[in-house]
Amino acid sequence: MIEFSDVCKNFGPSKTAADHLALTVNDGEIFGFLGPNGAGKTTSIKMMTGILKPDSGRIRINGIDVAEHPIEAKKQFGYVPDSPDQLLRLKGIEYLDFMADMYDVPGELRAERIKTLSAEFEMNKALGDRIQSYSHGMRQKIVIIGALLHDPAVWILDEPLTGLDPKSAFTLKQRMRQHADSRKTVFFSTHVLEVAENLCDRVAIIDHGRILFSGSLSELKEQHRGDESLEKIFLEMTDHE
Ligand SMILES: Nc1ncnc2c1ncn2[C@@H]1O[C@H](COP(=O)(O)OP(=O)(O)O)[C@@H](O)[C@H]1O
Ligand SMILES: [Mg+2]
Repeated sequence: MIEFSDVCKNFGPSKTAADHLALTVNDGEIFGFLGPNGAGKTTSIKMMTGILKPDSGRIRINGIDVAEHPIEAKKQFGYVPDSPDQLLRLKGIEYLDFMADMYDVPGELRAERIKTLSAEFEMNKALGDRIQSYSHGMRQKIVIIGALLHDPAVWILDEPLTGLDPKSAFTLKQRMRQHADSRKTVFFSTHVLEVAENLCDRVAIIDHGRILFSGSLSELKEQHRGDESLEKIFLEMTDHE
């Protein structure tokens, strides 16, 4: 579960990235965070993970306050950042071992999870190569595998499908569904509306740091005369010109 209460963040006097955000993501759901470029998605996610500090307000992950108990809060989630360019000089396997060390994943379990996840994302042959030599999609996959190694209850994924080939995207979406179906939490941002439409149980639409809507897609469509596509509703809601 993820809870935002009255979270604000400004970058300078005229740049509002989060404007009194209030949001609850429940266990058992895939929650899509939708918004155009610059809407405030990454900023919100970085506050959720403790990378950025909100100016005001509180964020709790599984009931644990991110600001008050940062280590405990961090143990609850796996995080895939928007840029997968991490620790490029490490080999894939060194990066995964580093992540497993960080989260105290014991030897046998670690080996088993690395094997399963690498096979699923077709990365087993690349684990001996440096991340530097990986394509964007491969970097994305090694970061995803690293984030899932400690089997976190809450998944926080910032544009996770960007750059993935169709098979890997399918694998990840399938895993997201299974995770939510096992009463855990999946939160991800996207500006690709088809993905959201097919995958999410609930969504929030954010623009200029403000949440314009939060609820299920059918509720969203009911509010908009019931017959419009998500794309049309989204474009109407986020059009200011
Ligand atoms: N470190 C920063 N310094 C100044 N402005 C920033 C910084 N990070 C983000 N912003 C601004 O905050 C707004 C939201 O950005 P971001 O959260 O990255 O949007 P999104 O992920 O939805 O594309 C944008 O106007 C962006 O320019
Ligand atoms: Mg972003």
